[in-house]
Amino acid sequence: MDRGYIFGDGIYEAFLIKNSKFIDFEPHMKRMKRSLDIVNITLPEFSKIEMICNDLLKLNSINSALMYVQITRGELPTREHNMPHSNTPSVIVIAYPEREQTKEWIENGISCMLAQDIRWTRRDIKSLNLLGNVMLKQKASDCGFDDVIFYEKGSLVVTEASSSNVIIIKDDKLITHPVNNYILDGITKNRTIQLAKTIGIETIEKEFIIDDLFTASSVLLTSSGYKIRLCTNIDGRPINDGKICKIGRLLFNTMEKWINE
Ligand code: PDD
Repeated sequence: MDRGYIFGDGIYEAFLIKNSKFIDFEPHMKRMKRSLDIVNITLPEFSKIEMICNDLLKLNSINSALMYVQITRGELPTREHNMPHSNTPSVIVIAYPEREQTKEWIENGISCMLAQDIRWTRRDIKSLNLLGNVMLKQKASDCGFDDVIFYEKGSLVVTEASSSNVIIIKDDKLITHPVNNYILDGITKNRTIQLAKTIGIETIEKEFIIDDLFTASSVLLTSSGYKIRLCTNIDGRPINDGKICKIGRLLFNTMEKWINE
């Protein structure tokens, strides 16, 4: 039985290919290599991933997709927790249709629920174990919200959303959680920071709390799937009177342009 199936013993990456352009492919591969190294999985065919992605596009006659690459420690006959000394990893590559934001989301923003972060503390590893994310996202959906934003118990520090990083805009600057084990170092977040810099907007990497969400001029959710989503309502309370601020809109448009050019 595959250890990915039995233990969730594996990692993944998800990245966009838009009109045959691999979006931030190098940082995604670098992060995947890092995740593999941390969990001690050796993948000799690492360099073949780009070729497999291209083959998948060709076979399906498509030029855009949300690519999913999953690597597990592979099959073993017994259920032993110890990692085997050597094993052949299993690799799955899937070309999913790219995720589209609805017109309503783009024009008016999304709504989010707040929930205590119940996940493990190695969120920097892009592990297959997403049960905490899945459970809280489902709870948010059941309550009529588009997504869920997590905060730490006690400190009320905002960490991430179910499958996105969170950036707030305050005093015309971006603020986002520092890179450490409590968040995934998102490639789209980093691209947003870089694009913001090119238009003269500074970013501060520091912890912020729930109250800061409600006093922000915009709350951004960034991910390879949806790129930038603008959140205008949290727990039923409007952010910036429910309006997307100028910088939020500018960043959204700048990202769209960068991806499509
Ligand atoms: N999710 N935080 C979490 C918990 C995530 O699952 C993701 C990505 C991000 C954003 O990372 P990036 O910008 O590198 O995609 C942050 C992917 C898209 C997913 O699981 O579908």
